[in-house]
Amino acid sequence: MIYLDNAATSWPKPPGVLAAMARYMTEVGANPGRSGHRLSVEAGRIVYAAREAVAQLFGAPDPLRVVFGLNATEGINLALRGLLRPGDHVVTSSMEHNSVMRPLRALEREGVEVTVVPCSPEGTLDPQAVLAALRPHTRLVVLNHASNVTGTILPVAEVGRALREMNGPLLLVDAAQSGGAVPIDMQADGIDLLAFTGHKSLYGPTGTGGLIIGDRVPLEEFRPLIRGGTGSRSEREEQPDFLPDMCESGTPNAVGLAGLEAGVRWVLEQGVEAIRAHEVALTQRLLDGLREIPGVTVYGPADARQRTAVVSFNIAGMEPSEVGMQLDEEYGIMCRVGLHCAPAAHRTIGTFPAGTVRFALGAFTTRDEVDAALRAVARLAQG
Ligand code: ALA
Repeated sequence: MIYLDNAATSWPKPPGVLAAMARYMTEVGANPGRSGHRLSVEAGRIVYAAREAVAQLFGAPDPLRVVFGLNATEGINLALRGLLRPGDHVVTSSMEHNSVMRPLRALEREGVEVTVVPCSPEGTLDPQAVLAALRPHTRLVVLNHASNVTGTILPVAEVGRALREMNGPLLLVDAAQSGGAVPIDMQADGIDLLAFTGHKSLYGPTGTGGLIIGDRVPLEEFRPLIRGGTGSRSEREEQPDFLPDMCESGTPNAVGLAGLEAGVRWVLEQGVEAIRAHEVALTQRLLDGLREIPGVTVYGPADARQRTAVVSFNIAGMEPSEVGMQLDEEYGIMCRVGLHCAPAAHRTIGTFPAGTVRFALGAFTTRDEVDAALRAVARLAQG
């Protein structure tokens, strides 16, 4: 079996991830930050260690600004709903996932204005076009760091630094596809809000992710998505006004966060640059190989350095779903086909509504696996 669906979720995970989760379930077990006994204290320490690891990886101003939730989608919703009010203007790109577009379209119906800046058919974005779309009442710029369809990396740092220089609107970056796979430094890159997921290139389990809230975000104007018990200020019926408790209510996914900490520590030990070099080399091999197969159309930039390890393609005369089924059944290759929850991106690259076949490599993908996938596609393309 060859697993090429790492953009949906990475697999396998580093062994330390399972070990940390097993340790939590067998030796710790308690509710973090609720009770004063030693197991609860240890659970709280584990959750805080996950905050520290995530903050270190992304250059967050403070671990306490890392708000945990289910996934990047929840982090994006928290940022958008937390900040935007009727009359505000938002700028985004035409390569966004529905995790951005659906909440934005809902907010539009509530009086928020949305401008979508077009990207090229390769998914690239001109940072000047983003800056040109700003208006006096623009509250937020929302950008995908890397497309889950083409892997195209958007110029978030160029936009972020320009926004800081002009003391302009806040920048929210959706790092679901890039966090852990491409270097990110919130402070150097001018990112005010970073939505991340734990189960892709951070190599943690599903059900982990969230939002890092930078120090330009006015907390007194920010609204949590949910309110409830936090284990802090329990004498009050009002939500705490400090992070992360302000935005984290109810018992967290502590066992998942134990695994997330181990995943992020593994990424930090390998080094994001080293993981990136491995993925760029394999992605370039895959891109070059696919382009040589007659009847295959490959989408996105030809240079792997301009993208993450995500490659979308089609075979002439075959539906993506048919290709995906044959890859699974005849060649043991797991990939994702269709629209990848990102119809805007597919419209941008010209593959709407049928979509594409997507191979997504990861840190554990080997050259032999890439070569086997190329042979399988070549055979399918021969008909
Ligand atoms: N958004 C994830 C993907 O692209 C799930 O597959």
